[in-house]
Amino acid sequence: MTDRTAELIARDAAVIAGVEKLRFFPATMASGKGAELTDLEGKTYADLTSTWTAAGLGYGHPRVAEAVAQAYQAPPSAGLSIMHESAVRLGERLLELVDGEGDRRVYLGLAGSDACDVALRCARAATGKQTIVAFEHSYHGGFGLAQSVSGVLVEGGAAPYPHGIFVPYPNPFRPHAGSIEASVDDSLAQVEAALQGGDVACVAVEPILSDGGFVVPPEGFLSRLAELVQRYDTLLLVDEVKMGLCRPGAFNTYELEGITPDIVCLGKSLGGGLPLSAAIGPAWVFDSPPASALLTMAGNPICAAAGLAVLDELVSGDYASRCAKLGEHFMGRLRGLQNGAGIEGGRSAERIGDVRGHGLCIGLELVRDRDSNQVDSDLTRKLVFRCWQLGVTVFSVGENVLEITPPLVISPEQIDRAVEVIDQAICDVIDGKVSDADVAPCSGW
Ligand SMILES: Cc1ncc(COP(=O)(O)O)c(C=O)c1O
Repeated sequence: MTDRTAELIARDAAVIAGVEKLRFFPATMASGKGAELTDLEGKTYADLTSTWTAAGLGYGHPRVAEAVAQAYQAPPSAGLSIMHESAVRLGERLLELVDGEGDRRVYLGLAGSDACDVALRCARAATGKQTIVAFEHSYHGGFGLAQSVSGVLVEGGAAPYPHGIFVPYPNPFRPHAGSIEASVDDSLAQVEAALQGGDVACVAVEPILSDGGFVVPPEGFLSRLAELVQRYDTLLLVDEVKMGLCRPGAFNTYELEGITPDIVCLGKSLGGGLPLSAAIGPAWVFDSPPASALLTMAGNPICAAAGLAVLDELVSGDYASRCAKLGEHFMGRLRGLQNGAGIEGGRSAERIGDVRGHGLCIGLELVRDRDSNQVDSDLTRKLVFRCWQLGVTVFSVGENVLEITPPLVISPEQIDRAVEVIDQAICDVIDGKVSDADVAPCSGW
């Protein structure tokens, strides 16, 4: 590490609040372009994080850069108290692209957290009901009501919402009720028991449980959940903040199950790197009560212009098909490692318990051995660190899962190189090339 890097690490430690740090390795980046990041020393990394998917179109996408630069020339105030074209146009575009029925509204926000928080608060206010059903290990936001119904955060010590009910999310790799079929039945039975209580304002679900361990539910789960929630005339909120916007191989993940949620939350990649989110749902929900979710810069013309450019690029470039194809390639290569195609006689195979996903939403679960499938959190911590050392940035979720969510502009060649690094890094960690002391300063979750 050079003095320049060491100095930035020290200055970061001295000024940036610990409450907003989730670090897996001491990366100090200077710039990003496409699917790559470059650090202060000029070393380039293949990025498999997209900054937790916020850089969905990659870093510095020219279409977004152009739209933002133009919008900043003469911005017409922000949307709170002044109407302007780009916020209205963005709302219209989202209503065209996100399925739904009847009279709908779009809440424009600044983060996935406020989109989910506002959607949940509106659901409560509009229905006059208090209970929110969410899933264990879920993540819907870093503050407020969204935080208090986020399983991951409540399990980590955040105050739970007093009227929240958490139910298990069916995990095909680790079914909580014996078989996955029994687990789906049990999860749905628990949701139904809550609905029978008669006080449920909303059921909130991630279409892939991402921060909670990248769990891809079995086919049919979401559609059965949607049918159940509809039967009880209750609102279903599908949180697409992390997975949505073409990454899963469809515009939104829920489309893979052919359902139409009542409320859809979007964020992260919607802003192309700028803070922008949206919650889309019935007018009777999102108009109530008026003036109850006031953020001065929500719907601002700069972020709205970025959002419009992102949506135009996603649609005109048919990124959903691109992600479906690239995802098959990526998962195929990872499953190859799992089947012993890796270096040194396929040594990594024994530690790859599961590869799962849709499109470029991919989880790779690490285990102590394939017989026991015991969670290997130590390998996981050291693996993300080693990947960074070898030139790939990737984060982990749950205790032992790599979240592989590269920018949608990644090329097949970049994917191949990243897979080689993951393979090498697993072997290196097995060989003890990363110590406890190396990873101690970056505790992750
Ligand atoms: C599914 C989901 N919803 C909501 C959020 C909150 O988004 P943000 O961190 O942009 O506020 C996240 C963040 O990781 C998320 O994964």
